[in-house]
Amino acid sequence: MALTDVVKRFGAVTAVDHLDLVVPAGVCFGLLGPNGAGKSTTMRLLTGQAVADAGTVEVLGRSMPAESKVVRARSGVVPQVDNLDDELTVAENLGVYARLYGIARADRPAAIARGLELARLADRADTIADELSGGMRRRLLIARGLLHRPELVLLDEPTVGLDPQVRQQLWGQITAVRRDGATVVLTTHYIEEAERLCDEVAIVHRGTVVARGSPDRLIEATVGVEVLEVAGDGPSQRRTLLAAEQAGLPTRHTGTGVAVLGSEALEVAAGDGEGHAGRRRRATLEDVFVTLTGEELT
Ligand SMILES: Nc1ncnc2c1ncn2[C@@H]1O[C@H](COP(=O)(O)OP(=O)(O)OP(=O)(O)O)[C@@H](O)[C@H]1O
Ligand SMILES: [Mg+2]
Repeated sequence: MALTDVVKRFGAVTAVDHLDLVVPAGVCFGLLGPNGAGKSTTMRLLTGQAVADAGTVEVLGRSMPAESKVVRARSGVVPQVDNLDDELTVAENLGVYARLYGIARADRPAAIARGLELARLADRADTIADELSGGMRRRLLIARGLLHRPELVLLDEPTVGLDPQVRQQLWGQITAVRRDGATVVLTTHYIEEAERLCDEVAIVHRGTVVARGSPDRLIEATVGVEVLEVAGDGPSQRRTLLAAEQAGLPTRHTGTGVAVLGSEALEVAAGDGEGHAGRRRRATLEDVFVTLTGEELT
């Protein structure tokens, strides 16, 4: 899958701005970025729902949007915005897509049954979608996208609104889909989700990729291992900030205080041996993002 110098505009807004991205087959790839960064638009370019103003989009070795019909039959899409048919039952929603995805008539009942299991909605097969809870809708949407065992799975914020247990089940499903050899591309605002699932992530900012790599490598290369968070604005915080400055470590203001990135180097570099008060935690992709862009991931 490759996007090359892709531009997509909506009037005065440039949603995707000369974006280059190559995703190798068989990996789980994550797109991270703040609201409005262009993640969903990028996903829609990959499914042929949106057409680039410039650049080329290649998916499963095919050129988009020219070959979007072939690509759609081989990929499963879970959109950010729920597009279930409210008037149809759970099983009918799956049935419509079984047909759309080109599953042979004789194989559809088994595919639908598998979808109901995946969604854990077997006991709600005859409930109309309008009567499902938010989390059930999400589960149905995801199962619908996996119905035809696609080679490529595109998930736009798949776990929004899911309770922790169901989210973990979905992680299990994604892992299983990958074991079968599929390529998975997902967007998420859950840093933990990206760190757990993704072999590689791209950080998207203002329509373009500002960094990419495995979560561990990105974190270590950009931030270091550890972050020290110091609450309030007392003298101990000022002392820590001074030490960080002397050690050349980046700092940032958080909601309640400041954070020193790469703080594992703090004592050693500052040489004061006194230690610094505060809470130490492992560095995350959120820290990478803030360091690179000066903004929060939201
Ligand atoms: N159909 C559309 N018409 C007009 N503007 C659009 C359309 N789709 C997206 N945009 C604009 O393109 C930009 C990128 O939007 P996009 O939905 O791709 O962001 P995103 O990274 O998915 O954000 P979020 O995290 O909020 O889902 C935004 O400024 C948005 O307003
Ligand atoms: Mg989006």
